[in-house]
Amino acid sequence: MPVQPAITAAPPGFEPVPARVLTDIETLPCDLYIWRGPRPILYAMRGGDLRRVVARAQRGMSFLVREIDADLLHGALAASLPRVLANQRMSPIERSKTAYSIAAKVLAPVFMRDRPLDHDGLMMTQNAVDAITFRMLEDEDLVWAMVATMQKHMATHTHAINSAVYGIVLARFTRFGGPQEIRDVARGGLLHDIGKNRVPKVILDKPGPLDAVEWQVMRGHAKAGHDMIVRALGYAPSYAHIISEHHERCDGSGYPTSRAGSQIALDSQVVAIVDAFDALTSRRPYKTAVTAFEALRLMRVAMRGQFNDELMREFIKLLGGWNALSGGNVSGEVSNPDLVGSLRVAG
Ligand SMILES: [Fe+2]
Repeated sequence: MPVQPAITAAPPGFEPVPARVLTDIETLPCDLYIWRGPRPILYAMRGGDLRRVVARAQRGMSFLVREIDADLLHGALAASLPRVLANQRMSPIERSKTAYSIAAKVLAPVFMRDRPLDHDGLMMTQNAVDAITFRMLEDEDLVWAMVATMQKHMATHTHAINSAVYGIVLARFTRFGGPQEIRDVARGGLLHDIGKNRVPKVILDKPGPLDAVEWQVMRGHAKAGHDMIVRALGYAPSYAHIISEHHERCDGSGYPTSRAGSQIALDSQVVAIVDAFDALTSRRPYKTAVTAFEALRLMRVAMRGQFNDELMREFIKLLGGWNALSGGNVSGEVSNPDLVGSLRVAG
């Protein structure tokens, strides 16, 4: 049977599901459809035999689920994440790609502008990133596979996942703290920009420089994000300060409170570095991406003094080591030295 290409669009009322993400689901939580004619056709029923689905998944097929079933599917996917990450039948890079796809699928709704952040959604988000954190603490092969898997889309949720992964890598290798501290870096890295849901899209994606009023709105995302998390949980979690501090800078040039040096928590300083690095190496509506090398150079030269020196050195060492391992192909698309004059990483 010919391989059906991945579905990138879906008919109204349905959402596409890359087959690979279903690999380690125990029981099918909802009906699965395929789309070959005018209408989707029922392919496997809820609670049905997953072996057939997995066999298809190995051929690279995609499926559809009804939008009303999406939460059921996301719950099952999130629950399967620890199994995927530990699945020794897959190579580290396969595990990492599958885990990234699952994380992207599960976390996308949390970062949607039109959905309020609720307690259950936030708990599932925390659990998903915790699964990645704890596996990456145990499995060094997976660490480098995750770095290699990073996708440089414009979407807020992929930036969030990337920041969490880079944060875990930096915190893990600087022996920055125990598993709980690293878990907080990952959670804070994942949720640091959640407050952007409160920034109008016209400002967020404006293709030119922001005026003074727009900047003020943009800068509000740090506190807005902190408040969203506290509201959803009913208390301030141990990573809440990372969200409000991720744009503070060591030289006092950051926001919202212009704290400097040791006034900024160390885990916030970790997230500040990985956030800026991933923003620079990703394409956005208002800028192209720079290579990892250029991003690190910009952070060391054009943004001198803004980031913790010691952490910066470690981060460069880590990415340099990984770059050597991967044949010098660290992600980042377009080399653009002119970017120095028009840096807008702060978004
Ligand atoms: Fe931010």
